[in-house]
Amino acid sequence: MRIAAVLLAAGQGTRMKSDLPKVLHLLVGKPMLWHTLQAVKQASSEKPVVIIGHGADKVRDFVGDEAVCVLQEPQLGTGNAAMQAESVLKGKSDYVIVTYADMPLLRGETFQQLVETQKQNTGPISMLTVIAEDPRGFGRIVRKEDDTVAAIVEEYVATPEQKAIKELNVGAYCFSADWLWEALGRIQKNPKKGEYYLTDTIELAVGDGLPVRALVHDNLVETIGINTRVHLAEAEAAMRQRINRDLMLAGVTMMDPASTYIEAGVTIGKDTLVMPNTYIQGGTTIGEGCEIGPNAHIRNSQIGDRCKVFMSVMESAHLEDDVDIGPFARLRKGAHLMAHVHMGNFGEVKDSTLGPGVKMGHFSYIGNAKIGANTNIGAGTITCNYDGTKKYPTEIGEDVFIGSDTMLVAPLNIGARSRTGAGAVVTKDVPEDTLVVGMPARAIRKLEKRDSD
Ligand code: UD1
Ligand code: CA
Repeated sequence: MRIAAVLLAAGQGTRMKSDLPKVLHLLVGKPMLWHTLQAVKQASSEKPVVIIGHGADKVRDFVGDEAVCVLQEPQLGTGNAAMQAESVLKGKSDYVIVTYADMPLLRGETFQQLVETQKQNTGPISMLTVIAEDPRGFGRIVRKEDDTVAAIVEEYVATPEQKAIKELNVGAYCFSADWLWEALGRIQKNPKKGEYYLTDTIELAVGDGLPVRALVHDNLVETIGINTRVHLAEAEAAMRQRINRDLMLAGVTMMDPASTYIEAGVTIGKDTLVMPNTYIQGGTTIGEGCEIGPNAHIRNSQIGDRCKVFMSVMESAHLEDDVDIGPFARLRKGAHLMAHVHMGNFGEVKDSTLGPGVKMGHFSYIGNAKIGANTNIGAGTITCNYDGTKKYPTEIGEDVFIGSDTMLVAPLNIGARSRTGAGAVVTKDVPEDTLVVGMPARAIRKLEKRDSD
């Protein structure tokens, strides 16, 4: 069976009041459209088709190779939008899933169920409905006396009796392909809005004497559609809960899921504890048995097993196993801390590798550096890596002891097992096994009594 999927994403999204196309607004770190694409891919066998229009270039850029984009210009309604997919899909699929790209909480499993429902259907349409107290402006499902679906009535044309109907059109359908392409050509322009409605296919099927099946969904959360930024925040909260729940069921402990913000695509190993007010974003992966937070902000980073990230910030950084950082550590792009590194408070590392067992307890800046195993970086050490125009490298060997407040003026090499005295300003390479000291304080004069008051 060839199962295709069409996502309608050409509308303007006027109610978002935004310069950004609605489907590119972020939900747990990924554009709305990304979520819908992931979901339909689980239920289809062909490359999805995305109907674009408003903000077409931006949407096309985001989609890339993930789907085939087809332009709908002008945007004449959801029926007209679906019709644009015919040129790509006609004769190339048996079933076509059609859904709206502003329904990002719908799950892959739900689309799979919809396809299964349609496989059992002798008629051409299976559609998803939900029973809800708050209609949220959705189309109402009118049923016939025999309980089969008769029509979808949009809210603005519904009679008071129809408005009272609690069964709503979610906006996910599975059609028999050949019937769909033929029926879309038969939809009449809606006289009030001048648009062609996809929802009119229901009445066409009923008119053809063919049954429309409704799959009544029991998960209200999945049917949150996004028309305004209020809906977006609702969807964000719902999606966050879903991610946290899945992680907890997979063995991650969360002290307070409500204040734990984990984006889609993050992976965390079992027996890791995530403490409150923690943000884990982008393509971050975290191993097993770690303690993350409280107050951690981690983006696009890799963290091994048994690490501790306490009140710290990491971006595009890498911790191997058994590393602990914080409180108040900042790892920037290219920071690579190998196994058993300890980095305490108020340190910053950028584009540098700290070898296994390096200790950097307090107040240091390490940039463009390579530091050998088991070296100790004293409090207040700075790699002076920038002369105002260029960056220069620093290389420090194994088992080196860098004394407190050492200024390492790059480019610079410090050989293995060497030591620097407190306050040293090191401007020349230091060979192995050497002690260097800089400008020790000298007695200038005897203090008068009042000087020491
Ligand atoms: C639509 C349904 C309604 C359903 C609701 C559920 C119709 C006529 N109505 O209403 O029954 O309850 O969704 O979410 O289908 N789009 C295009 N091209 C267009 C117009 C729209 O691609 O010319 C896209 C939009 O980008 C959007 C989707 O279709 O992603 C739905 O359009 P929208 O205007 O949001 O429809 P609703 O009023 O929500
Ligand atoms: Ca909508």
